[in-house]
Amino acid sequence: MKEPINIAIFASGAGSNAEKIIQYFRHSNSIKIVLVLCNKPGARVLEIAAQNHIESLIINKNDFFGSDYYISLLKDRNTDLIILAGFLWKIPENLIHAFPERIINIHPALLPKYGGKGMYGHFVHDAVIAAHDKESGITIHLVDELYDHGRHLFQATCKVDDNDTAESLAEKIHYLEHLHFPVVIDEYIKEYFK
Ligand code: GAR
Repeated sequence: MKEPINIAIFASGAGSNAEKIIQYFRHSNSIKIVLVLCNKPGARVLEIAAQNHIESLIINKNDFFGSDYYISLLKDRNTDLIILAGFLWKIPENLIHAFPERIINIHPALLPKYGGKGMYGHFVHDAVIAAHDKESGITIHLVDELYDHGRHLFQATCKVDDNDTAESLAEKIHYLEHLHFPVVIDEYIKEYFK
C-alpha cells in the first residue's frame, strides 16, 4: 500500500463527522487528513481544522464548477481519497472523473429513499417523520455522476419512534455516523489501496 494515504475532507457546516474522522486517524502513520475544503465561510468545520493544524480552504464557486482548479489543488496535495462529510454541493463531473471510486459520501437516510437534490440534513429527517417510517439510518456510498446514487459501502439503521422530531432523529443519525463513518473509511482504504 502507498503510504501515507492522503484524505481531503469536504464539508459545509458543523463538521461533527469531519471531527470524528480527524480524531480517528490522528495517530495513524498510514492515513493522513491533509486538507479540509469548505464552501461556507464561518462554518465550524474550519475551526476544527485549525484546532487540528490541518490546512483548510474556502471553495470558490466559479472555480469549483467552471474549471479544473480544485483537481490541480487536490493533486498538488497528493490527495488519494475525498470524503464528503456533510458537503452540500453536487460534485462536478470533472472532479468525479479525476477521482474515480475515490470519493465517499455519507447520507443521513437509507438510500435510495430520501436522496436527491434538496435532500440534506433536517429536510431528510422531516420527510422521514412526515412519512411515518418506522426506521431510518445512514448510507455510506461511493459518489458517481448522479446525486446520492453510487455503490453502497455500508448502511446502518435506527428506530424512528412516534414522538421523534427532526432534531431527535438527527441525534440518532449522528450517533450512527460518528460510530461507523471513520471505520468504513479505514476498511475501504485497506481494501481499495492494498
Ligand atoms: C450529516 O448528518 C450528513 O449525513 C449530512 O449532513 C450532516 C452533516 O453533519 N449530509 C447530507 O445531508 C448530504 N446530503 P456534520 O456537519 O455535523 O458532520
